Amino acid sequence: MEFTQLSREQLRTLQISLSAQYEAFRQANLNLDLTRGKPAPAQLDLSNELDGILDGFYLLQDGTDVRNYGGILGIPEARQLAATFLEVDTDEVLVGGNSSLTLMFAYIDHMLPVWRQELVGSKDAKIKFICPVPGYDRHFTICEHFDIEMLNVPLLDGGPDMDQVEALIKQDPLIKGIWCVPKYSNPTGHTYNDAVVDRIARLAEIAGEHFTILWDNAYAVHHLSDTPDVLKNLMAEAKRQGNERSVVMLGSTSKITFAGAGIAFLAAEPNNLKAFEKYLSASVIGFDKVNQLRHVRFLKDAEHIAAHMVKHRNIIQPKFDLTLQILSEHLQGKGIASWSQPRGGYFISLDTLPGLASEVIQHAAAIGVKLTPAGATFPYGLDPQNSNIRIAPTFPTMDSLQRALEVLVVCLQLATVNQFLSD
Ligand SMILES: Cc1ncc(COP(=O)(O)O)c(C=O)c1O
Repeated sequence: MEFTQLSREQLRTLQISLSAQYEAFRQANLNLDLTRGKPAPAQLDLSNELDGILDGFYLLQDGTDVRNYGGILGIPEARQLAATFLEVDTDEVLVGGNSSLTLMFAYIDHMLPVWRQELVGSKDAKIKFICPVPGYDRHFTICEHFDIEMLNVPLLDGGPDMDQVEALIKQDPLIKGIWCVPKYSNPTGHTYNDAVVDRIARLAEIAGEHFTILWDNAYAVHHLSDTPDVLKNLMAEAKRQGNERSVVMLGSTSKITFAGAGIAFLAAEPNNLKAFEKYLSASVIGFDKVNQLRHVRFLKDAEHIAAHMVKHRNIIQPKFDLTLQILSEHLQGKGIASWSQPRGGYFISLDTLPGLASEVIQHAAAIGVKLTPAGATFPYGLDPQNSNIRIAPTFPTMDSLQRALEVLVVCLQLATVNQFLSD
C-alpha cells in the first residue's frame, strides 16, 4: 500500500516494526560496502591469462620492441583494436595507459589555455561545462580541479534534456564542453537515443569556439541483456555535419580485463589528436606498450571481446537481479522510491522521496553499511533534491549484497515514515 494512504496509527505501527528491524541489524555488527563500482575478484580472474601471455615475444610486426621507449599514440595493433571498439578510424585513436580518466584529465588540461584565451579582460568569467545529472562523480572532480563551472542538466531516459542543453549553449559561448556517458550511463544505465546523438553532433554549430564533447563510452560492451542497446556513432554523425573537431571519445578495458591494469583509449579528429600528442610529449615518452600488446593478444577482436563480456555478465547478472528483486519486494507500490532497471553498465540508481537520501545513507552507515555519499552523483556533491543513491552491486559477494540491501530498504522506509510522522 502507498505510504500516503496509511493513517498516523498505521504509520506509527510501521515505525515501531522498522525500528525493531533496524536495531536487530545493529546487533549483528555489520561491516558492508555498496560503494565500490569495481569488478569482483571472480571477474578479474577471467583475465588472468594476460599474465605471461607474451611468453618472451616482445616484437611487433614492424620490428618495434614494445619493451623500449616511444610511440605515444600506442602500438598499431592496439590502435586498431581500440578503433573497432570506439567505431572510428585507426588514425583517430590514441591508446594510453591504464586509465581513461587520466586521458580525460589530460585532454581538458591541454584545452584550457585555448579556452581561457576568451577570458582575457573579463575578471569574474569562468569556463563552463554542461553536466548531465545524475552522473559520474570523477568527471565533476576534474571540473572542480580546473575551476570549471558546472551546469546541471537532467539526464532523461534517452539522454540529456537537449532543449536545455541547446538553450544554455546558445546563451553562453564560455560553455566549452559537455560530459556524456552515452551507453549504460553511470549511474542510471540509460543509453542515448539516435535523436539525442544527432543533436549532440550539431552542438558545435551553436556553441562558442573549441566546444568539446567528452564522450566517455566506459560501458560500451557491458550488456546485461540479450538484446544490447545500440548507440549511434557520434563521430560518424559529427563528420556528416562537419563537426568532428568537437568530438573526443574515450573508453578503456578497466571493466573488461583488470580494472587497475588495463588499457585506455581516446579518439579524436587527426589534427586534434596531433595537438594532444604534442601536449602529452612533455610528460610521457610512451605509454606501457607491453601491456598494450598483452591486451591485443588476449582480447584479439570485437568477437572475442563480446564472448569475454558474456563471462562477466554471467557473474554480475545475478547480483543485479538480486538487487532489483529486493528493491521491488520491499519498496514497490509504496510510493516512496523509484529506481533504474539497467540493461547494462555497473550501477543501479535509486531515488528516495525528496530530502531523504542523506538521512538514509547516515542511518545505514550508523549500523555498518556504507553507501555512496549523498550528492556524489551531482556536481559539487550537491543533489538539489537530496534523493539520489547510487548502488554498486558488482563487488560484494551475493550474501553481503543481500544483507546490505536488506539494511538499505529498512533505512529508506524508516526515514520515509519518520518524515511522514513529523509533518
Ligand atoms: C563513466 C566512467 N568513466 C570512466 C571510469 C574510469 O575509467 P578508467 O578506469 O578507464 O579510468 C569509470 C569508472 O567507474 C566510469 O564509471
